[in-house]
Parts: sequence; structure tokens; C-alpha cells
Amino acid sequence: MKSNTIHSISIIEIPKIVDDGGRGNLSVIENNSLPFNIERVYYLYDVPSDAYRGGHAHKDLQQFLLPLSGSFDVILKDGGNAKTVTLNKPNKGLLIVPGIWRELGNFSSGAVCLVLASDVYNEDDYIRDYEAFKNYKNV
Ligand code: TYD
Repeated sequence: MKSNTIHSISIIEIPKIVDDGGRGNLSVIENNSLPFNIERVYYLYDVPSDAYRGGHAHKDLQQFLLPLSGSFDVILKDGGNAKTVTLNKPNKGLLIVPGIWRELGNFSSGAVCLVLASDVYNEDDYIRDYEAFKNYKNV
């Protein structure tokens, strides 16, 4: 949605099932854990620490980013305000609403970013130019 701001972006905590016998943790995401139906799953890995991913906005797509391993920063911009969120807990993910510019960087060694998306891949849903994004947001 065009009018969304960075204030609509939230952290969703995925319940953690801690094993009594010291066998580690288990977290589960079901379709009703998120405010959208999961239509696509992809993941980023082997990202060099000086590389940036993202650098685009979506018109309609909703995404949930989860740091399955390691950590990375997500820079979020709505054309007016910006903020940076560090994701570093495998059970705390970031729900990004449509109409938000995002850049991912500062990946730790071995970081894996799981992305759950509300739709299949569609290049027409992308805004990949920041000036075009600002025009889209009317700022
Ligand atoms: P890109 O959008 O540049 O990745 P990121 O936002 O993480 O930096 O996508 C990289 C390439 O992968 C580009 O050619 C499009 C392709 N791609 C798909 O084919 N399907 C997908 O679901 C995604 C996310 C990307």
C-alpha cells in the first residue's frame, strides 16, 4: 500500500519450544502465524559482510524476514522516515508491509535470511529505483 509508513513494520515473535532434556529449541510457523498466506519461501545465504541486498520496495507484496542463523541489519524507508532494525534471533522476524523501501546489509558470517512472502515472484510488483519510489510515495 502506497501510504504505509515505517511505523506499520513490526517484529513478530515465533513461539520457541525449549526442550526439557537439553536437546535445543524448536520454533514453528504456521499459516495463521502471519497476517498473510505464505505463497513463496526463499533464503539469502553466503552474503559477504560488505554486500547489500534488497534496495527496492514492493507495491503489494508482504514479507516476513527471519534470521535463521547469524545476524543482519534491515534499513527501512518510507520516503519520509527511516530506521534500521537488527535481526539476530531465529525466533524474532520482521514483518514488512507493502510500500516500504528496504536494504539488507551487515551480514554476519554464516547468516541466513529466510523470507516468507505473500505472493509468487512478480517483477512488476518491484520498485527498484529510489527516485521512482519517492514519486510513488508522493514525497
Ligand atoms: P533481487 O531482487 O535482486 O534480490 P535481493 O532483493 O535479495 O537483493 O533478486 C536477485 C535475482 O533473483 C533477480 O534476478 C530476481 C531473482 N529472483 C527470482 O527469480 N525469484 C525470487 O523469488 C526472487 C526473490 C528473486
